[in-house]
Amino acid sequence: MKPKLIKMKLGKDSYSILIGNGLIKSLPAYLPKGISKIIVLSDVRLTAKRKELLSALKVLSIPVIEIPLKAGENLKNIKAVYPLYGKLLDAKADRDSLIIAFGGGSIGDVAGFIAATYMRGIKWIGIPTTLLAQADSSVGGKTGINHDSGKNLIGAFYQPSLVLCDVAFLKSLGPREKISGLGEVVKYALAFDKKFFKWTHENISQLVKGSPDTLSVAIEKSLKWKAHLVSKDVYDRLGIREALNFGHTFGHALESGTNYKTFQHGEAVIWGMRFALCVSEIRGKLSASKKKQMDDLLARFKVPAIPKTLSKNEIFKHMKRDKKAHGNTIRFVLLDDIGHSVSDAKVTQENLDQAFYKLTGRKD
Ligand SMILES: NC(=O)c1ccc[n+]([C@@H]2O[C@H](COP(=O)([O-])OP(=O)(O)OC[C@H]3O[C@@H](n4cnc5c(N)ncnc54)[C@H](O)[C@@H]3O)[C@@H](O)[C@H]2O)c1
Ligand SMILES: [Zn+2]
Repeated sequence: MKPKLIKMKLGKDSYSILIGNGLIKSLPAYLPKGISKIIVLSDVRLTAKRKELLSALKVLSIPVIEIPLKAGENLKNIKAVYPLYGKLLDAKADRDSLIIAFGGGSIGDVAGFIAATYMRGIKWIGIPTTLLAQADSSVGGKTGINHDSGKNLIGAFYQPSLVLCDVAFLKSLGPREKISGLGEVVKYALAFDKKFFKWTHENISQLVKGSPDTLSVAIEKSLKWKAHLVSKDVYDRLGIREALNFGHTFGHALESGTNYKTFQHGEAVIWGMRFALCVSEIRGKLSASKKKQMDDLLARFKVPAIPKTLSKNEIFKHMKRDKKAHGNTIRFVLLDDIGHSVSDAKVTQENLDQAFYKLTGRKD
């Protein structure tokens, strides 16, 4: 079957996004031209898939050097990244070398950041292997690492030359990784696309089961939205990309409030969207029946409970650190319809308290 193709239109930085089942075998045909050497930054856990990738690259008559890495937030750290520059220098990577990011979102963020900074920037491509990375993080050019004070505080906008999503890789994902990715997929449905919402509703069991055909449709629909928004606001300065953060204000607070140990990113975003739906209703933007339709879908994803040991005040403290609070109010991405978002800068502490109670039944 021919792969699905999405064009990221960014002038000279334009690139193709390919989605298909078993695509990895045809990778060489899609690689950029004039490459002297390939450096693969891969997730060490993907034993069999790494072999598949390396064997697909064998037909090329250029050197391929693989650097396997332990994926996760610990990798997104300057101390973990610094020695990698040394490995690139040892491998004599030059300005015509290509970096391949092979793994989930953490590998993509780090590999893209190294590509942006090594010798002032060399080409890179993304081959995402988690649903979260295929449906969201691999596209958009946000690369970077964390600082002790917060997530993704150090980085660069640096677009890849190609993103290749092979849905065959998703078969081995655990149930939590699958749901985490579906969290981002459902974000696109809820915040942008009523028809897509209806479709996710109808296909939820296939999505949770991980049917490759259904997942490739979900990835295509999500990335079409992402590519559209990114192409209009590549440096995230105009507010056009803001709605992509739907569910992320409360979600990030849950992640940082639990030191990234309790929730996967998309799981926290699922809670965050449920919270934002409560705020949307409380602020009078969204009817109770529409809120219920969307919340019912989100409630079908099994995610860890919000720990009782994490107090409301602690969550809100993290939330306000993440978002610049304006006086007594805070800016939130809310929904005023299924598939339509609005930005509301006037969300009060009282609104947040009410929403927290509505969501959790807890007063503190
Ligand atoms: N740049 C962006 O725009 C953007 C957007 C959203 C999230 N992110 C970042 O993405 C990261 C989260 O992404 P993630 O969940 O993909 O992270 P990850 O790279 O940590 O992968 C999650 C887990 O899945 C495993 N894994 C990867 N591929 C697999 C496969 N095919 N089968 C089985 N297991 C597999 C990994 O080894 C890891 O244990 C976070 O660091 C987040 O900040 C970035
Ligand atoms: Zn996200």
